[in-house]
Amino acid sequence: MSELKDSVSELSELNYFTSEELVPDPYPYYEELRSKGPITREPHMGVYAITGHAEAVAVLKDTENFSSCISATGPFPGLPFSPDGDDISAQIEAHRAEFPLYEHMVTMDPPDHTKARSLLSRLLTPRRIRENEEFMTRLCDRYIDTFIDSGHCELMNNYAKPFSLLTIADFLGVPEEDHEEFRIALGAPRPGARPGALDLEVMADNPLQWLDDKFSAYIEDRRREPRGDVLTGLAEAKYKDGATPEVIEVVRTATFLFAAGQETTTKLISAALRFIGERPELQQKLRDDPDLIPLFVEETLRMESPVKSAFRVARRDTTIGDVPIPIGTTVMICPGAVNRDPDHFPEPNDLDLDRTNVREQLAFGRGIHSCPGAPLARVEGRVTIEKFLERMDDIRVSTEHHGPSGDRHYEYEPTYILRGITSLHLEFTPKGEKS
Ligand code: HEM
Repeated sequence: MSELKDSVSELSELNYFTSEELVPDPYPYYEELRSKGPITREPHMGVYAITGHAEAVAVLKDTENFSSCISATGPFPGLPFSPDGDDISAQIEAHRAEFPLYEHMVTMDPPDHTKARSLLSRLLTPRRIRENEEFMTRLCDRYIDTFIDSGHCELMNNYAKPFSLLTIADFLGVPEEDHEEFRIALGAPRPGARPGALDLEVMADNPLQWLDDKFSAYIEDRRREPRGDVLTGLAEAKYKDGATPEVIEVVRTATFLFAAGQETTTKLISAALRFIGERPELQQKLRDDPDLIPLFVEETLRMESPVKSAFRVARRDTTIGDVPIPIGTTVMICPGAVNRDPDHFPEPNDLDLDRTNVREQLAFGRGIHSCPGAPLARVEGRVTIEKFLERMDDIRVSTEHHGPSGDRHYEYEPTYILRGITSLHLEFTPKGEKS
């Protein structure tokens, strides 16, 4: 437990949004917030922070009273207008294009959100997810092949980053012969690269622009010449009213999947393998009963939720439970706090594979914006753990890089938006030839 826990007053003085001290271990801070109630006004930015499970679900489902226009960035840069009158919905619409990420579905509200999301549902079929899993299994073996004989790896660069990137590429139907181009353009390390090494000399100047251009070309090509592949399905998708989307609308759907699905999944994978590398008894339990792996993935999402904060703004004076929320207030849902609400998850700080309600964790959000990539992320986590356990014995965190058990050190991404370590050095005993 962090030393910060000793000093409650010190914790209150820290600004959640700017204080790097809270990054390695935000949980004592969440507890401090919770001690003031499931919804409390954080003093530095005036944000209403939610740590209660029931309250978080209520806000996430209430699109009447809460807008997603600030969902990914919260109090920065602040509303582009001063709230006027008793409902700011019209002001939000008038200023849409001034919100960060306004062109992506995560910040949209109905009816535009409903429309944007309908394009995605065409892709998320059980068959596509099954085919994607087959690809993941092959990809996982391919990356493990590059480091297995050495008995160690740096998980993020040697595996998690390129794996999550190429999984989305495959999900969207990017032909396999183009995958290498994607890996290079989006800066994921090549197989067998030194930890931290990027192909900087060949990396595109602006990866997002590169993605936009690439997908525009795919969609235009498939509209001209349908080929019966996944990209053709995307190119031919129509809105519910039968209208054909503009190419740019389809392209945004595709590129946002890369933005939303890579870092998050990388963090899930590293948190899970860190637990496995730190806890030999847990590792043995999963080896003895691999059917527990999906529950373990879920429990990892609960314990170490990769998205640290999602935001909403109150359209009008409203309430959550019996707490009044003034018009224009920024509300922050912290999955990492909500998922440790002791009223919902008893002994919340214990990793427990016997939790019957673990799938009620909110790492993927809830309501109309709930993560459409969740089925993919869950499979990515499961396949990775199955393969690592199948091909390696005695997986352990490297003492050389992270210090001895009981005194480990890890670097975390310095952000209030995502939670995850920047590198994870693992050692293991190769199991011989793969079956
Ligand atoms: C462990 C991995 C992941 C976590 C923890 C995660 C978490 C989340 C959360 C919390 C939201 C809701 C944000 C809000 O309500 O404001 C969300 C939305 C979204 N996620 Fe994920 N995500 C993950 C993986 C993925 C993957 C793999 C993809 C795509 C392949 C993806 C695509 C999206 C998209 C497109 C949205 C916006 C949905 C909407 O606004 O309707 N995510 N994610």
